[in-house]
Amino acid sequence: MINSKIFDINFNNPLVLASGILGVHAEYFKTLEKNNVGGITTKSISLDPRKGHKNPIMFNDNHGFMNAVGLSNAGIDKSIEMIKHAKQIVKTPIIASIFGGNVEEFGELAKLISEAKPDIIEANISCPNVKKEFKLFGANAEDAAAITNVVKNNTKIPVVIKLTPNVTDIKPIAKSVEQAGADGITAINTLAGMRIDINAKMPILTNKFGGLSGKGIFPVAIKNVYEIYKTVNIPIIGTGGITTGKDAIEMLMAGASLLGVGTAVYYEGVKVFTKINLEIEEWMTNNGYSNIKEIIGVAHE
Ligand SMILES: Cc1cc2nc3c(=O)[nH]c(=O)nc-3n(C[C@H](O)[C@H](O)[C@H](O)COP(=O)(O)O)c2cc1C
Repeated sequence: MINSKIFDINFNNPLVLASGILGVHAEYFKTLEKNNVGGITTKSISLDPRKGHKNPIMFNDNHGFMNAVGLSNAGIDKSIEMIKHAKQIVKTPIIASIFGGNVEEFGELAKLISEAKPDIIEANISCPNVKKEFKLFGANAEDAAAITNVVKNNTKIPVVIKLTPNVTDIKPIAKSVEQAGADGITAINTLAGMRIDINAKMPILTNKFGGLSGKGIFPVAIKNVYEIYKTVNIPIIGTGGITTGKDAIEMLMAGASLLGVGTAVYYEGVKVFTKINLEIEEWMTNNGYSNIKEIIGVAHE
């Protein structure tokens, strides 16, 4: 059995499309559902529409994938319509990702997005690619707790908080969001990075700095999820570099209950969900497991 029930929501399998990978278009959601996705996270939604950064905003550098998209999105009003439409055409649980510039905006976003009845709200307090106007609330325990509090106070929908690996110690931050009432944690967002074009003698991304994702960050994601699992008692959506069924099993063993898949969709297309699910089932059969619950956290002594 690779299905699971988390926050009383049924997931056919543990693979969730990570935020920012395919926007919030309902028609994509149908395609994802046909391709065995277990859950769908929207691109992060802000109050006002955002154009994002100018190109180049992403590239693949063999070891990983760099992006500084700049959180482009259609804004809350259009996103509410899109999620309502998506809820009519897919049965797959939908996770609405929100991000604001201050505590009040997060509260307003939580209240407004609840109208669209997503299954889960994910508060993104961890994007490394936006300067000035957005504070990295995930960088310290107090800010992370303040956002958790305000989002929880403005919705009855389960809330997960998405954390950043760009901190010295993720454990106190995870603890503080749990204490502030978070129902779950998503980890990790991208790692802050930069590349320089040696011919042009300038940064490749217009934003200069970007976020590293994909295979190269998998060990970092495993370590963070392992530490969070040791620290809290709420479910974790383990995200970062998952590409194969064996990666998925490793992430479950580190302590994740659901698994975010992002960059692998760029490399392999939406068929990657079917591939990883089949590989998970094959590994379970070969190793005598009948339920993924039995695998969660087994790497902990
Ligand atoms: C192009 C791109 C855009 C992203 N946009 C968002 C976003 O809007 N909100 C968010 O929380 N994470 C965003 N992320 C981070 C992913 O959701 C995920 O946490 C990260 O990429 C690690 O997973 P992966 O290695 O499977 O891609 C983005 C990642 C990429 C590659």
